[in-house]
Amino acid sequence: MSYKLLFVCLGNICRSPSAENIMNHLASQRGCANAIACDSAGTSSYHIGASPDRRMRLAAKERGIDLQGEARQFIREDFEKFDLILAMDRDNYRDILRLDPEGKYKDKVRMMCDFATNHPDKDVPDPYYGGADGFNYVIDLLLDACGGLLEEVMKNQDKY
Ligand code: 4NP
Repeated sequence: MSYKLLFVCLGNICRSPSAENIMNHLASQRGCANAIACDSAGTSSYHIGASPDRRMRLAAKERGIDLQGEARQFIREDFEKFDLILAMDRDNYRDILRLDPEGKYKDKVRMMCDFATNHPDKDVPDPYYGGADGFNYVIDLLLDACGGLLEEVMKNQDKY
């Protein structure tokens, strides 16, 4: 059984599809693609059905990563379906846990940046209204955080 990871941002067109595809990319590179299953979602309904943002795809492509996916909204059922849910920023974290008022799934929800080892950021910054630098930074930060996350998942693999 693979370990199921869900990456969550606001629109599901920039940060979370990047995290999902970067995680798959790193797992393939390290020969452990079968150990994980990744998906992504947005807390909002703004972009349901949309492909990843063109500017985000360009930044990822420059690092050799193709972004695939179709935006969907995070739903309550995701709490049961996934082993770990990664919020890109504090607003995402709060909005996810708002759907779990009893706190039943609180331990499954973590901040993406907790897994970064080379970046001090607490949040993956929202690049949507900024320039190319912001999109490139998201890729760099997510390469770091996904690397740390993959290491953590593989270390604990025998527990799952
Ligand atoms: P994401 O970026 O949450 O990383 O997908 C955004 C996408 C769309 C909007 C904001 C952030 N928006 O306001 O439409």
